[in-house]
Amino acid sequence: MSDFKQWLWAMPKAELHLHIDGSLQAARLLQLAAKNGVEIPYNSVESVEQAYNFEDLQSFLDLYYLGASVLRDEEDFYFLMKDYLDKCHEQNIVHTEIMVEPQTYLPYGVTVETVLNGFRKAIADAKAQNGQSALMILSLLRHLSEDEAIAMLDSVAPYRDDFVAIGLASSELGHPPSKFERLYAKAKAQGYKLIAHAGEEGPPEYIWEALDLLHVDRIDHGVRCVEDTELVVRLINEQIPLTVCPLSNVRLCVFEKMADHNLLQMLQQGLCVTVNSDDPTYFGGFMNENFESLADALALTKEQALQLVANSFKASFLSDEAKAAYLSQLQDFAAS
Ligand code: HPA
Ligand code: ZN
Repeated sequence: MSDFKQWLWAMPKAELHLHIDGSLQAARLLQLAAKNGVEIPYNSVESVEQAYNFEDLQSFLDLYYLGASVLRDEEDFYFLMKDYLDKCHEQNIVHTEIMVEPQTYLPYGVTVETVLNGFRKAIADAKAQNGQSALMILSLLRHLSEDEAIAMLDSVAPYRDDFVAIGLASSELGHPPSKFERLYAKAKAQGYKLIAHAGEEGPPEYIWEALDLLHVDRIDHGVRCVEDTELVVRLINEQIPLTVCPLSNVRLCVFEKMADHNLLQMLQQGLCVTVNSDDPTYFGGFMNENFESLADALALTKEQALQLVANSFKASFLSDEAKAAYLSQLQDFAAS
């Protein structure tokens, strides 16, 4: 590994855009399918990985939801979360904000309580073992109705303290943020922070809607904002964080190749962009592989990497004290 890649690896980092089901490793998928008697059209790690060959968001989501269908009991959810948090520890991701999508498991008779019991225990173990910090985000599925999303928000009421925010994921086109205005108003009244995927495949209008109708604190992806100058000015002036996922964007053909990615141009323009992995096992890398890919294709500098990571800590939903502590840890690292 080059000195620069070792340095990237060692840097204390935060991840703000991660779907827990997107961290399900192929071997674990096969193991759980066998354990739970779920039939899947794959019989080896290689055959699963061969399917990681997507044309667009929907072709990915079809496989992603198939993968999530093998999870059943508390232990399954424990290992899903613990596998990801172990990876974070290995990659020096000291804080992470994780999207959890309980609607995905409902058709298989899995309750919110089962899911959260497993996830909560894994997070507590990672904290106790390694001092890791993790927050969960309730992510709602936009291909389903707003009423179903509201019903899910209602059913996590007994577990309000498990979630710092709500978000909106899944098929973007045809499901604009405006479909979920009532949901977001209700969540805001309950004190949740607000995020939404917008401007990944969808047009800049979806980002405007997320800002003006949903009143989000952050935008997931948002890379299509550059098509609208007025929007870029707004995002810069208000320093609305964008949680960008470079390998995801290339794998889902939002950009043809990493050399075409606009992340560093956005950073240079003064947008509050951050680097994240989205669905690491499906898109060919966790956070460090995303940074390495930017280094290889776009000649990322140390200064830019430090700015991107500082943005992540600032854009996190941690307390001001915790943010300051991580930013000072980052400064010490930069000076060392
Ligand atoms: N976009 C929308 N929905 C998703 C994604 C994504 O990148 N990953 C998992 N669900
Ligand atoms: Zn995402």
